[in-house]
Amino acid sequence: MARVTIAEQYLTAPAPVRHMPEEGTEPRVAQTLVESEVLLDGDPSKNLATFVTTHMEPEARAVIADNLHRNWIDHAEYPRTAEIANRCVRMLHHLFHGDGEPEAPGTATVGSSEAVMLGALAMKWRWRTAREQAGKPTDRPNLVYGADVHVVWDKFCRYFDVEPRQVDLAPGRYTVGPDDLRPHIDENTIGVVGVVGTTFTGECDDIAGIDAMLAELRGQGLDVPMHVDAASGGFVFPFSDPDFAWDFRLPSVRSINVSGHKFGLVYPGVGWLVFRDEHQLPEELVFYEDYLGERDATFTLNFSGGSAMILAQYYNLIRHGRAGYASMVRAMEANASHWPGSSTSTGRWRSSAASRACRS
Ligand SMILES: Cc1ncc(COP(=O)(O)O)c(C=O)c1O
Repeated sequence: MARVTIAEQYLTAPAPVRHMPEEGTEPRVAQTLVESEVLLDGDPSKNLATFVTTHMEPEARAVIADNLHRNWIDHAEYPRTAEIANRCVRMLHHLFHGDGEPEAPGTATVGSSEAVMLGALAMKWRWRTAREQAGKPTDRPNLVYGADVHVVWDKFCRYFDVEPRQVDLAPGRYTVGPDDLRPHIDENTIGVVGVVGTTFTGECDDIAGIDAMLAELRGQGLDVPMHVDAASGGFVFPFSDPDFAWDFRLPSVRSINVSGHKFGLVYPGVGWLVFRDEHQLPEELVFYEDYLGERDATFTLNFSGGSAMILAQYYNLIRHGRAGYASMVRAMEANASHWPGSSTSTGRWRSSAASRACRS
């Protein structure tokens, strides 16, 4: 018999906000309550602030829905999922002009923040090992970057006890180059950060200039690696500007992070860390465990985690291909080209012409 009292169950009592209710409720009541709460949020499809993906096609959503219950870390139980994550890493390594065919030169992450933490930890470990081998002190590591970085870099420094050497931006500029960073680098520098697509304007640091400066330092006996934070740019510039060398074509670039959930066109929950080669990942950072059925190696901050967005990334890579991603970037550029004209009338906006700035 149909229930006729359902309205009273969710229209007459306040939503539980502090204590878990003693008794449960009907699925539809719980669903309606959750959905009516988020109805008051902003509409994701109109959210331009985080540049995170808000639309995927039905087939991609089917891949996601069908795999929500698959724990990515359980490689013993889900070896094909692990293989698909590795395929994505290999494709990105190739897209970023990595040399050779390393088996697993990186890892899937929850987003760029986790990828940044892991990439920066690898730099810290490599620096420490080199210092120990040289019989030098290891108690004062620092990391050099411009004030145009995302807050995750300050977070890394605080969480992992590294001195942040954040360099101010020159007036009227929103990126940094070699002359800005060079005075802050010394033998305690674990690495420098270059941003390809800053959070604020989408512009790029002078990665080639920083690379040349680091090459000069190498010539003087100081090997300082560069990590490129390509959270946004990593899925843009390979397609819009294939000749723009910001990646492993530059010898100082040892690791790169990119957000799958930004211009990788996947819903929130996936990022990637890609190393130039296997030597960039210190063995001490890889943990081995065997409680999920076989001996397994992990290099992540999280243990359990979703597989759906990783599988959706692979779906996108093979579904769109390079041509599809290039088309997406062209479409964005076409839309962006309307922005200055349509907005200057208010006098409140200025176009940073980000992609042109990165090209020059
Ligand atoms: C340049 C840059 N780095 C890192 C991040 C952090 O990325 P995520 O939100 O994927 O953790 C962002 C996010 O906007 C970013 O723009």
